[in-house]
Amino acid sequence: MRQPVVLITGAAGEIGHALIERLSEHSGVPVVTIDLAALDEPLPRLVSREFTGSILDRNLLENIQAKYQVDRIYHLAALLSTRSEFTPVTAHEVNVTGTLNLLEFAMQQARSHGHPVMFFYPSSIAAYGVRRGDERAEHPLLEGEFNCPTTMYGCNKLYCEHLGAYYANHYKQLDAEDHSGRVDFRSIRFPGLISALTVPSGGTSDYAPEMIHAAAQSQPYACFVRPDTRIPFMTMPDAISAMFALTEAPAEKLTQCVYNISAFNPTAETIEELVRKAYPEAEITYEPDARRQAIVDSWPQAVDDRAARGDWDMLPSYDLESAFAEYLIPTIAQRYA
Ligand code: SER
Repeated sequence: MRQPVVLITGAAGEIGHALIERLSEHSGVPVVTIDLAALDEPLPRLVSREFTGSILDRNLLENIQAKYQVDRIYHLAALLSTRSEFTPVTAHEVNVTGTLNLLEFAMQQARSHGHPVMFFYPSSIAAYGVRRGDERAEHPLLEGEFNCPTTMYGCNKLYCEHLGAYYANHYKQLDAEDHSGRVDFRSIRFPGLISALTVPSGGTSDYAPEMIHAAAQSQPYACFVRPDTRIPFMTMPDAISAMFALTEAPAEKLTQCVYNISAFNPTAETIEELVRKAYPEAEITYEPDARRQAIVDSWPQAVDDRAARGDWDMLPSYDLESAFAEYLIPTIAQRYA
């Protein structure tokens, strides 16, 4: 008998870190992880098996296939948006071929153990492509609007949303009676995420967490986007809660595979003001980087997340003020104490 487990790819990244901690608090299910990098402390103690390797390594996936019964996959492995622009072909391999490998893996798992496999896929506001100044994109965007990403990462995310839906629907049609081959694909288009415990790397929404963490460590910070730059953000704990809410929702309540979620839409300058309130000595300057600015300028200033709120009761617990006052500032203070 193979052991039933949850599989997390890209487990050493920011979302993986928070997800493993939350799973260890709330679920008794053993967790198996894959990442190129080793997990940071204390995560190795919280998982039952850590594989160090690539999602492009089919032998590794077959090894996991042989040993474990995977009922749920959180496929988090990806190259983020800024990094993908420097190595677009590698980004495509990891972000698209890697996702295809995991979807195939999920289908094989479902066939072998005879029930559907839940497949959670983190998409992104990078799946959109808007032009600043275009009045048609001034309102909060629905999932289906302005789906013309300008970055490799955004193209990869948008395509993999469709690929996941293909795996969910195609095999559902083929096996109308027999659900054993089903991949239950569910995806969230995340806004920029801000964690008090970790800092991201290679993303373009990184300026917000970088600014906060730099101030907490009394380090100067040169923000790589203009002060008036506005995109949606959310705290990491709310992002993890949303992942659980979506994956626990009864299938019949879901009207789509991919959902926007959001909590607040501050400008970089508003984030700076909140950081200065907590750290009046903070040294924050602006040195916009043209390429990174162009990436964030192609993302929406706000998204319409009524489908998530209606279908599975998505409701962030932090607004902008409480995110700083109740989560970020106190937790970061402890982290660097
Ligand atoms: N936050 C990610 C990035 O900046 C987008 O999903 O790349």
